[in-house]
Amino acid sequence: MDRVIIFDTTLRDGEQAAGGTLNVQEKLEIARQLEKLGVDVIEAGFPVTSPGDFEAVRLISQEVRQPSICVLTHANIKAVDDSWEAVKGASNPRIHIVLSSSDIHLFYQLRKSRDEILKMSCDTVARARKYCDNIEFSAMDASRTAPEYIYQLLKAVIDAGATTVNVPDTVGYAMPNQFGDLIDGVFKNVPNIDRAVVSVHCHNDLGLAVANSLEAIKHGARQVECTINGIGERAGNAALEEIVMAIQTRSDFFDLTTNVNTTQIYQTSRLVSDLTGFPVQPNKAIVGGNAFRHSSGLHVDGMIKKPQTFEIMDPKSVGVPSSSLVLGKTSGRHAFRERLSELGYSLDDEDLKRAFTTFKELADKKKDITDRDIESLVAEEQRTISEEYHLDRIQVTCGDQGVPTAAVRLVGPDGKMKEDASLGTGPIDALYKAINRIVRVPNSLTEFTVQSVTEGIDAIGEVLIRIESDGVTYTGRGADTDIIVSSAKAYINALNRLIAASRKDG
Ligand code: KIV
Ligand code: ZN
Repeated sequence: MDRVIIFDTTLRDGEQAAGGTLNVQEKLEIARQLEKLGVDVIEAGFPVTSPGDFEAVRLISQEVRQPSICVLTHANIKAVDDSWEAVKGASNPRIHIVLSSSDIHLFYQLRKSRDEILKMSCDTVARARKYCDNIEFSAMDASRTAPEYIYQLLKAVIDAGATTVNVPDTVGYAMPNQFGDLIDGVFKNVPNIDRAVVSVHCHNDLGLAVANSLEAIKHGARQVECTINGIGERAGNAALEEIVMAIQTRSDFFDLTTNVNTTQIYQTSRLVSDLTGFPVQPNKAIVGGNAFRHSSGLHVDGMIKKPQTFEIMDPKSVGVPSSSLVLGKTSGRHAFRERLSELGYSLDDEDLKRAFTTFKELADKKKDITDRDIESLVAEEQRTISEEYHLDRIQVTCGDQGVPTAAVRLVGPDGKMKEDASLGTGPIDALYKAINRIVRVPNSLTEFTVQSVTEGIDAIGEVLIRIESDGVTYTGRGADTDIIVSSAKAYINALNRLIAASRKDG
């Protein structure tokens, strides 16, 4: 096979990243975008671990029809049965069973023998096979497992019905050569390996997740498990965009393809960053803000003469918008709509009307509106559509003399205006206390960051916050040219998520 299957686990392993919780609607939105991106498999969740995951998998299975939808489950018969209930509506459902294989996990965590693990693996694979013929088995911590046992285990699960066998570097421990040798060993020592696709799943604890995945591909693996922006447990997973662009850019080296529509990469990255609240570092390969920026005189000179002197990929090939085109006060609805569609947004008439009004308000405050401003504006609009509380107005006074004060007016769930005011140690403290007096949902603020969307004194400031309530973290974002307003919007956004989640639980 000369195509690599792209298995996206942003919604499962990615969401496992500390502080990265997504609600059901957000998961569906990401799944729809992953479908546009052209991934082959979406791992939509781990349904037996939470009712929210169950609902998200069920909904995604119904709505997202092109890719295979996969559920992760423990190697336990009841868990397999229950997981099937979540995914059975998919056009091409996959059940993914995971069980540890390394002695360290068996001895200290599971307290089971290798024979017991082998039996549990085969029994659950056989059970899953009763439901569908697309079954994946993962030997967790494979890179720290005795190779002979991996070979034995993979042979047994393939005989039991597994169609994909996954070799994870669960703790990001392997070195590329070693990992390549392990994959080689699998091909040489598992006699029935021609009946399954060999997959890899690499973590980034030593910064080698992409290198290890590419090495495995070079040694014959034909499925890679990865996430958008590389998010995931601890240091994360292999970044989808880096693997796909390495295969494409170095087709002379790999001689392989993927089904991914690379022009959707940038937008997918922005969406995942926006909804999870994990910013993308500026120097991140492919999707970082600096990935296609040239600063040194020598480089800029080369770029003007021939872009390939210092650019190995065309930014357009990954959907990075050209920042040369700016809109402003005099730009009309038509130009705004055109630019939106060039950036990959298709808004219905109602949303377009609202976004255009916000665009005009922004143009009154900011001279040049760039693509990043438009992205931020659309994200802000989409965030607030289904919110219970909306910001109507705020008034804050602060300075180095006197006590900071904030007065806030919100539109509540019943459409009625609610007002209150508070003092605080600083403007944000006063503001958040005033909002708390209206919304009255106990929580604590655990993170607060401000960053500017573009350069310049009139730039939009984006605020990201995380709040915690009953041990659960909720992310909120807000954007405005006034960072006090952004802060209010971000807090209200996080509170709305908290309220929506507690309504579902209760
Ligand atoms: O890291 C890991 O081993 C996993 C498995 C479920 C594949 O996430
Ligand atoms: Zn993992």
